Amino acid sequence: MNNRLTLGIETSCDETAAAIYSSSAGVLSSNIYSQREHAKYGGVVPEQSSRSHIEKINSIVQGALDQANVNLDDIDTVAVTNKPGLSGSLLVGLSFAKAIAYAKNKKLVGVNHLEGHLFSPFLENPNIPFPHIALTVSGGHTSIYLVTGMGQYQTLGTTMDDAAGEAFDKIARMLGFDYPGGPDIERLAKQAGFVDYFNYPRPHSKTLDFSFSGLKTAVMYDMVKRGMYDMQSKKLLPGTDPKLIEQVASSLLVCITDLFATKLKTALKAYPEVQAITFAGGVACNKYITKVLKAFCTKRGRSFFVPSRKYCTDNAAMIAYVGNFKAEQGKFDSIDLDIFV
Ligand code: KG4
Ligand code: ZN
Repeated sequence: MNNRLTLGIETSCDETAAAIYSSSAGVLSSNIYSQREHAKYGGVVPEQSSRSHIEKINSIVQGALDQANVNLDDIDTVAVTNKPGLSGSLLVGLSFAKAIAYAKNKKLVGVNHLEGHLFSPFLENPNIPFPHIALTVSGGHTSIYLVTGMGQYQTLGTTMDDAAGEAFDKIARMLGFDYPGGPDIERLAKQAGFVDYFNYPRPHSKTLDFSFSGLKTAVMYDMVKRGMYDMQSKKLLPGTDPKLIEQVASSLLVCITDLFATKLKTALKAYPEVQAITFAGGVACNKYITKVLKAFCTKRGRSFFVPSRKYCTDNAAMIAYVGNFKAEQGKFDSIDLDIFV
């Protein structure tokens, strides 16, 4: 097949997204609706999320088709995120994808959301060398992989508890900010000059696994000690000096960036043949982290790849991309495909 067109659908969390990927021309469209209604709850409310997906999915998919100037008959493959994620949310996307595949007699491919993030750097840089090390960090996952080919990778380490994005979100909430808190942490840290004021503890583990819940607790106790936070009401104390808030954010960002660099150093020691490092997922929107990791790679003679912002956060272009190469490898799924949470 000369030009394969893949429709990607993503509804695993709080983005309803659809995209069209062409094997010869790349991303033709990437349409996203981000659910804003969870901001005040401090995290995604699953039932609300499924309801929002069911409301939006038709117009988001139609929008992706229209922007790409194609219709359902032109599509070869329907790729859909079927794991991991919120079950009710995944079911909306999967059922919609199945309906299209069944009605239009198209091939169906289930895509692992994490594989989507893992291969998202290829959307803009198709020639990233193998093997490479990939660090994918978002609100739901923090993992480090050795990637040896398209769809071929080995998990070297993952988080034992919270994801790094979750740590940003939870600490931002303690500082009085809405979900998602990562962008606020970056903004506040910038105001404080990206300086490590409070030297939060770095775990000493020599493995490639991550742990962030201890850091979250350490920051909370430190905030109590500094008279900023009330553990009973779980609220920032009124009248807290805004400078102190910025200093917490700055120390947190420097600490988490340090942890990433330490893990990458360990990974490069174990796999010295690796010539490139990729960084993806929502947290890869963070300009400070990417700047530090880029310098880390330059210093060690490795290339560094990070997707642009629109492909870091949840999107369907990455799902269509993975679906497309799985289709090229003949890895299709049956209409009985289920979700895995
Ligand atoms: O990939 P994503 O959109 O959704 C998941 O699959 O989780 O990632 C969302 C996460 C949130 O935790 C959010 O706070 C974080 O990415 N994030 C950031 C930044 N922008 C988004 N974290 C740190 N700095 C940022 N600039
Ligand atoms: Zn994600």
